[in-house]
Amino acid sequence: MSDLRQRHDAAAARLAEYGQGHLLRFWDELSDGERGELLADIEAVDFARFGPLIETHVRGKPAFDPPKSIEPPRAFPPQPGPDQQELYKRARARGVEAIRAGRVAAFTVAGGQGTRLGYDGPKGGFAISPVRNAPLFQLFAEGLRGVERRWGRAVDWHIMTSPANHDETIRLFESANWYGLRRGQVRFFKQAQAPAFHQNGLVALEQKHRIALSPDGHGGSLAALRASGALEQMRAAGVDVISYFQVDNPLVKPIDPLFIGLHLEMGSEMSSKAVAKAHDHERVGAFCDVDGKLQVIEYSDLPEALAVARNPDGSRRFDAGSIAIHVISRELVERLTDPRSAAPMPWHRALKRVPFVNDAGQTVNPSEPNAVKLEMFVFDAVPLAKNPLVLFTPRAEEFSPVKNAEGDDSPATTRRDLIRRAAKWLAACGVNVPRGADGEPPQPIEISPEYAIDVDDLKERLGGRAPHVDWSKPALLA
Ligand code: UD1
Repeated sequence: MSDLRQRHDAAAARLAEYGQGHLLRFWDELSDGERGELLADIEAVDFARFGPLIETHVRGKPAFDPPKSIEPPRAFPPQPGPDQQELYKRARARGVEAIRAGRVAAFTVAGGQGTRLGYDGPKGGFAISPVRNAPLFQLFAEGLRGVERRWGRAVDWHIMTSPANHDETIRLFESANWYGLRRGQVRFFKQAQAPAFHQNGLVALEQKHRIALSPDGHGGSLAALRASGALEQMRAAGVDVISYFQVDNPLVKPIDPLFIGLHLEMGSEMSSKAVAKAHDHERVGAFCDVDGKLQVIEYSDLPEALAVARNPDGSRRFDAGSIAIHVISRELVERLTDPRSAAPMPWHRALKRVPFVNDAGQTVNPSEPNAVKLEMFVFDAVPLAKNPLVLFTPRAEEFSPVKNAEGDDSPATTRRDLIRRAAKWLAACGVNVPRGADGEPPQPIEISPEYAIDVDDLKERLGGRAPHVDWSKPALLA
């Protein structure tokens, strides 16, 4: 009890300093257990960090200096042009060498809340593969096992969770026997949280004894890499290349030698993959050259005139869509998170619907956006990196995220795209893939990423022989 009292007094003093004393207004009504939870929430919030943002990002909106010029970025094509043949060959070899030398680790951001998909649980547990119904995490793990089979080196996998899904994520891995990986190969750490603010600058209470907290955006992954010790562990293990991807895209190559090699050859600190946008308003960030610096402008921020702009030949001018796949140098993360010299990542402000407890102690479920959430985006590190580069990649090979329950970027479109890619790879290996009236293969097809990491790998594994496929049932290569 005296411990609670002491913590209460310390919290009250800190809150008073930042004008957030209202967070303790239901204290007298709380049980000791609830008091402990409230204090833990208050202690977890870095008020020194958020205090200054209240004026600039909550009550106000961050100042925006309109750039002088916004141009499409220079980018590497998926296939090398005549003068790039040598570079791509060298890059690929260099990427393989880096993998074999143990310099590369995979990194998945999986701390999001997955609200749009409406799936209850860590998104990585969502069953997606068309024949086995394997979850996203399993497909990434198999991709890493495929890399190990191919290049003889196990790759460590770091996974960022959030306080809300951390324990459950680990339980998923435990119950799946680490998806065939070695236990010590997978490391989990939690990202930090940010409070939601009422528009007057006061932090919102979600319950009388709980602050409304949510993950601080995938940009928080950089600070979390350091705070969790993952960065230190990478340094000790000799890892200096971080292969970053989101939890929602099962077509990703978790480790891509060409991409890694280009990053190294070009002396880039942060490299990014892009696809040609599906349409002007696809919900992907756009790579732009802003006053001479490469940058991603989020879809919600891209001015309409730029979204629809055309080149003289009629093609889309700002066509490089970000698919949130990056290669990041460990040194960049070290520099950007160094408390002594940190170049700060910007915060983004979003007005969201956040249920809260009002002064009368009643829970209010607003029907309109009522509160400000603050998030950082990892792609804001791009303009802070040396020599950042963009590599275009074919969408059908590498991008089909699961974001929504229905429509675009839904389980149905992702499964369709996994099947289409498998059919394309089989056809390239000489299989005559029949098509139904809708142009799609008559049965689901699945190739485990452990069996083949790409079409060349598949050709090699099949040894030039087209496998026999019985098209009366689903086809699986695993
Ligand atoms: C994101 C990108 C967008 C890109 C698109 C590609 C942002 C703001 N935008 O859009 O530019 O074109 O993906 O698919 O990210 N996550 C965390 N912690 C958080 C928030 C998110 O780990 O605090 C993770 C999620 O688990 C997920 C990923 O980040 O893996 C993407 O988050 P989401 O909010 O779904 O981004 P999108 O709006 O889909």
